Amino acid sequence: MIPIARPSIGVEEKKAVQDILDSGMIAQGNKVKELEDGFADYTGTKYAVAVTSGTSALHTALLACGIKEGDEVITAPFSFTATANSILYCGAKPVFSDTDADTFNIDSEKIEEKITSKTKAVLIVHLFGKPCDMDRIKEICDTHNLILIEDACQAHGAEYKGQKIGSIGDCGVFSFYPTKNMTTGEGGMITTNSVDIDKKCRIIRDHGQDGRDNQVMLGYNYRMTDISAAIGVEQLKSLKGL
Ligand SMILES: Cc1ncc(COP(=O)(O)O)c(C=O)c1O
Repeated sequence: MIPIARPSIGVEEKKAVQDILDSGMIAQGNKVKELEDGFADYTGTKYAVAVTSGTSALHTALLACGIKEGDEVITAPFSFTATANSILYCGAKPVFSDTDADTFNIDSEKIEEKITSKTKAVLIVHLFGKPCDMDRIKEICDTHNLILIEDACQAHGAEYKGQKIGSIGDCGVFSFYPTKNMTTGEGGMITTNSVDIDKKCRIIRDHGQDGRDNQVMLGYNYRMTDISAAIGVEQLKSLKGL
């Protein structure tokens, strides 16, 4: 069988994982923080929150942006199933807006037709690493007071007019699945410039706790392990070097 994409795992990743295993601190810890800081720096955002997958990153981002039952989220019909699923996880309704035949991304000129009184957010997908028409999409979101989330699960390192993808909307979402531009085995990341979204994402990924045993909302266990983050820190170095 010919694999469609083989992850590039070198001696650095193996040593980094071995070091974490030897340390005995294998759950979320300093390595996750190191990966978050490095990824925020790479995307040019103030904050980055590591989670267990691109799917949990999408779910966390939508919840942190306040998406709830009864809301509508305009999104791309041509994507991996996780994009629309994450909207359904929040009890909201995915509203598909048609694809641009040249780019295969969402057609920015058709988004406004889909806006109703229930629309709360636009979740666009930079498919195959090709950036969406961000100027127009941002203008629409600003005009109609809508949250803009970038599904950048296939777009690590992509740029739009000199700005890194994942830093243009209210938040960006990345996957570290082995077929992606960098991997942690399974894993994901949310990028944002909003202190409020950053804080909410951290609460949601840790059972809804704001600090130990301070339960403030319903959350999940979406914490990344230091074992995964150790791979990610080395992968990010390689990605930066490309
Ligand atoms: C566009 C897009 N969104 C979301 C996901 C979900 O990411 P993960 O597989 O890490 O949950 C993927 C992964 O294939 C993807 O390509």
